[in-house]
Amino acid sequence: MTERVMVTGGGGFIGSHLVKALLKQGYEVFVLDRLNETKISLDGKKANLISADITDKKRIDSVIKDTGTIDFVFHLAAQVSVAFGEANPEENRKINVDGTRNILDLAKACNAKGFVFFSSAAVYGDAKSFPIKETDPTEPINQYGLSKLKAEALCLKYTNSFDVVIIRPFNVYGPKQKPGDDVVSVFIDKISKGEPLTFFGDGSQTRDFIFVDDVVSFSVSVLKNTPVRQAVFNVGTGKETTIKELAELLMKLKGARVPVVHLKERPREIKRSVADISKIKALGFEPTPLEEGLKKTLGRMVR
Ligand SMILES: NC(=O)c1ccc[n+]([C@@H]2O[C@H](COP(=O)([O-])OP(=O)(O)OC[C@H]3O[C@@H](n4cnc5c(N)ncnc54)[C@H](O)[C@@H]3O)[C@@H](O)[C@H]2O)c1
Repeated sequence: MTERVMVTGGGGFIGSHLVKALLKQGYEVFVLDRLNETKISLDGKKANLISADITDKKRIDSVIKDTGTIDFVFHLAAQVSVAFGEANPEENRKINVDGTRNILDLAKACNAKGFVFFSSAAVYGDAKSFPIKETDPTEPINQYGLSKLKAEALCLKYTNSFDVVIIRPFNVYGPKQKPGDDVVSVFIDKISKGEPLTFFGDGSQTRDFIFVDDVVSFSVSVLKNTPVRQAVFNVGTGKETTIKELAELLMKLKGARVPVVHLKERPREIKRSVADISKIKALGFEPTPLEEGLKKTLGRMVR
């Protein structure tokens, strides 16, 4: 029988890639997002769109009428901007914590067997040792990270109802990412327009950049391959790249040079970030090297 999967936030950057991958693998897919329309389809096979706000408990409780039983839920819908979270902590909490509780209740009502929660590396805050292991202390330094940590704790209360897999992606990049909070899409946008890049400080801060296709393939495989009550996985490459190296690599790949403007370091910005990925490697996961992932990103953008 065709398995039925729900993807909240399926209209967003990672979600839309995930939905395509699930359609390709033959799942029946329900996208729950507050968008009014989604154009996600593959070879004429369309995802079913449920237009709903995850903070609207009444509406979410009614969703089961449209879906019936659901086998797996991937919960990605979230307020994702660190800056917005700092300026609007209550709204941030409402979406990322209360909204997650509403989706967990929905998954339980739909008799789900598994729940994959998209948390974030932001739960670690300013880590003290590297690479960061799943078992390292979680000490978020912003409202976004705090809300993800609270949501993780909520998910773990539902392990009597379904398997819970918590994914902590590091810095995800890839096609269809809109220039916003993340540095890769902003740099690509600026280089394409011939505009200067901005470094906060000297550009020596590091990040672990993971290609969106890798995040998706790991997420899809994990439930099937590791039936567990609960598990937490870092999803990164295990490679540390400075912002300066990223800028150089992108300029090389685009065959263009733009000036760099140095601004003052941002207060409380994380200086280093890199995942220990032994856990996902033990499951056979091999991340795409950064240069290859960026080439694919740029290649798919021009088409
Ligand atoms: N992109 C990254 O680098 C990254 C890193 C770590 C974790 N994550 C997590 O992965 C998930 C997906 O991130 P993304 O980059 O695709 O973000 P995105 O902003 O592109 O997608 C989020 C989606 O959630 C939907 N949404 C937001 N609030 C909603 C609400 N109240 N009700 C219903 N839908 C709502 C939006 O419409 C959007 O389609 C998020 O949970 C994010 O925290 C992303």
